[in-house]
Amino acid sequence: MATPHILSGIKPTGKPHIGNYFGMIRPAIDWQDRGKAFYFIADYHALTTVTDPKLLRQYTRDVALDFLACGLDPAKAVLFRQSDVPQVAELAWILSCVTPMPMLENCHAYKDHLAKDKVPSHGLFAYPVLMAADILIYDSNVVPVGRDQKQHVEVTRDLAQKMNALYGPVFVVPEPSILPTVETIPGLDGRKMSKSYNNTLELFPEEKALRKKIMSIPTDSTPLEAPKDPAGSAIVSLYRLFADEAQVRQMEADFRQGGTGYGEFKKRLFEAVWTGFAPMRERRAELAADPGYVESVLKAGAAQAGALAEATMRRVRLATGLGA
Ligand code: TYM
Repeated sequence: MATPHILSGIKPTGKPHIGNYFGMIRPAIDWQDRGKAFYFIADYHALTTVTDPKLLRQYTRDVALDFLACGLDPAKAVLFRQSDVPQVAELAWILSCVTPMPMLENCHAYKDHLAKDKVPSHGLFAYPVLMAADILIYDSNVVPVGRDQKQHVEVTRDLAQKMNALYGPVFVVPEPSILPTVETIPGLDGRKMSKSYNNTLELFPEEKALRKKIMSIPTDSTPLEAPKDPAGSAIVSLYRLFADEAQVRQMEADFRQGGTGYGEFKKRLFEAVWTGFAPMRERRAELAADPGYVESVLKAGAAQAGALAEATMRRVRLATGLGA
């Protein structure tokens, strides 16, 4: 294969959390040395939930800054704002014309919405089609995502194959890349870590806020001196992400042994998270000191991404009969 194209996106609907970090940000950064990487802040997608324009711009900048602080290197990977390449919305329309409604009715975000008796917007319903456009417009081979996005990459593959069958080989058919070790990062309550469950640990909170969040992890009422079960404990699951093998084994042994309270385990978890993110926190502070930096990276990224997107769209317009 020629240099593979790697692509992923993250929605600016709030501050990134460690589920985003281990599920996507870190794998995406690892991929930046292995091909041509395109990473974007999905502000069109965020419009399905964020309706305050100031907040949307703020979140978009913050997510970009976090991504850079975590190690995204703009000399290697293209970082851009989704809406700076509006051709993707054009492609989403073209794809929607070959998308069977039942395929979208089967997608989990839409089904979850209906299950909660909420009225889904057309944007939420059509969300996977825009995602397919994101992926296909950059000729992506590999899409590093968390487990929850797998279905969307499968929709993308179906749509690419359908378009290729109808119009000839216009699209690359992508593969998801989901690291088995970080398929789904649990939140503070043991469910999937997600902004919508309010069970997240942000990447760069204030020290006091992080301590408070970790100390508030719900636990059962096993007394301090009694043995505890490490299996299924949110504390142990999160600790495993930051600690080395020996430290994890020690915590598990201390759980089983009894004599150590949950408060002590939470303190160990806090230390591991706080020191784990220390280098990135310092880098973030340095980058944030230059107010024009993030915008300049996003603009340069949009120029590169835009050129590729326009080339794909010329191919698609020609193949589908649009234009002269
Ligand atoms: P978003 O913003 O919800 O999440 C960004 C990435 O973080 C991963 N993730 C997790 N991974 C493991 N454990 C968790 N608890 C966890 N929570 C979130 C997600 O799987 C995702 O990879 N629709 C996408 C954004 C998007 C996109 C795309 C991604 C738009 N277009 C094209 C890839 C390709 C989303 O909402 O991600």
